[in-house]
Amino acid sequence: MTAPRPPDRTREGPAALPDPFPRRGAELFAEDVPVRDLAAQFGTPLYIYSRTALRARYRALAAAFAPLDPVIFYAVKANTCAAVIATLAGEGAGADVVSGGELARARRAGVPAGRIAFAGVGKTADEIDAAIAEDILYFTVESEPELERIAERAAAAGRAARVALRVNPDVDPKTHRYTSTGKAENKFGVDLERAERALARAAELPGLEIAGLHMHIGSPVMQIEPYLEAIDRVAPLCRRMRERHPTFRHLDIGGGFGIPYRPDEAPFDLAGLAREAIPRLKALELTVGLEPGRFIAGEAGILVARVQYVKDGPGKRFIIADAAMNDLIRPALYEAWHEVRAVGATEGRVTGDLVGPVCESGDFLAFERDLPDLAPGDLLAVMNAGAYGFVMASNYNSRPRPAEVMVEGGRAHLVRARETLDDLTRGETLPDWSA
Ligand code: LLP
Repeated sequence: MTAPRPPDRTREGPAALPDPFPRRGAELFAEDVPVRDLAAQFGTPLYIYSRTALRARYRALAAAFAPLDPVIFYAVKANTCAAVIATLAGEGAGADVVSGGELARARRAGVPAGRIAFAGVGKTADEIDAAIAEDILYFTVESEPELERIAERAAAAGRAARVALRVNPDVDPKTHRYTSTGKAENKFGVDLERAERALARAAELPGLEIAGLHMHIGSPVMQIEPYLEAIDRVAPLCRRMRERHPTFRHLDIGGGFGIPYRPDEAPFDLAGLAREAIPRLKALELTVGLEPGRFIAGEAGILVARVQYVKDGPGKRFIIADAAMNDLIRPALYEAWHEVRAVGATEGRVTGDLVGPVCESGDFLAFERDLPDLAPGDLLAVMNAGAYGFVMASNYNSRPRPAEVMVEGGRAHLVRARETLDDLTRGETLPDWSA
């Protein structure tokens, strides 16, 4: 089945950012480098990141919220590639980390400890110790027992730990149920009523300094209203806490700002959020934190794959590529929709599934979709794969994880080498009693 090819997405309006992956003639480019050349040089599957786009997205966000002079904690979970974190650190970004591993990566990539916030419901004593030793800006604390543990570890280290309590404002972010985090039934944070008691307890504990409040309602969120509702819900608590606790200085409103995955989807109304949220936040007289991951990295990356086979089943066509659910799990995990573009010229469109070689029926990158009519050997790009792409990749089916390349203008650099077969078995041994 064929249908006319839709036009490439164009970005319009005053806030339009240059498309990091433009089509020039028949060919898809990554900034000024033909994607085809990168695939030839580095192989497929291949992640490609645009440094210019990362910076532009960061700057757009910083500019929108400039009147608040916020701390922008890049949520490194979205893309932990050292070159990505270092690019953003160079722009002045802090980091939102959720593990000792992310803390180490952020520090190694040059994020100052004084701009790091450490979130997550299950911090271990070792992770807490590492963050105390680094003297990070604050812990985002998700429960009362965690407060006690951080106080204990801080006392043991003879230092003070700053804590921002994560509150769960119980608003509906209207996103996939797996990625909603600010509803009462989610495991994150404590409700507003408990928050007041938890902070009172924190004030009694030696070794803790109350830094403020944190919330994160979900991801991706496409509407601005849930943020405004959440801010309105926590504002009275912020005012009371600021009076009661002299060190209470921060309100972190989290991340989750969405990106348009579909070409016809409207972008997240960043200007609208800034317009509505800035006066509300300014009135609180606190240092505002933002924790975007996807908004910065999502559109700055693509996953490039090569078609291996085309197979016509009784009801539909399968385009079988060399990238799979282990490389990009979002379609399999959330039924997420990612645009698929041909890297070169293709005649016409087909309806079918874009699948990988993994032995699972859930292994698809595009399911029952209108796709470019790709033939074996053709290259394709899965768009908007810069966030929650490589970081969620696995070695399932013993597939080495892809290489990652960063481009800027006409230059490209291999920022992470493709894994090798030796990488797959690194660290494995046989029991010495098994011979
Ligand atoms: N802050 C906290 C506390 C978070 O839990 C998250 C994401 C973020 C910030 C950043 O959210 P972002 O701005 O990147 O949307 N793997 C999923 C999304 C799960 C996100 C979990 N937390 C995906 O592929 O869509």
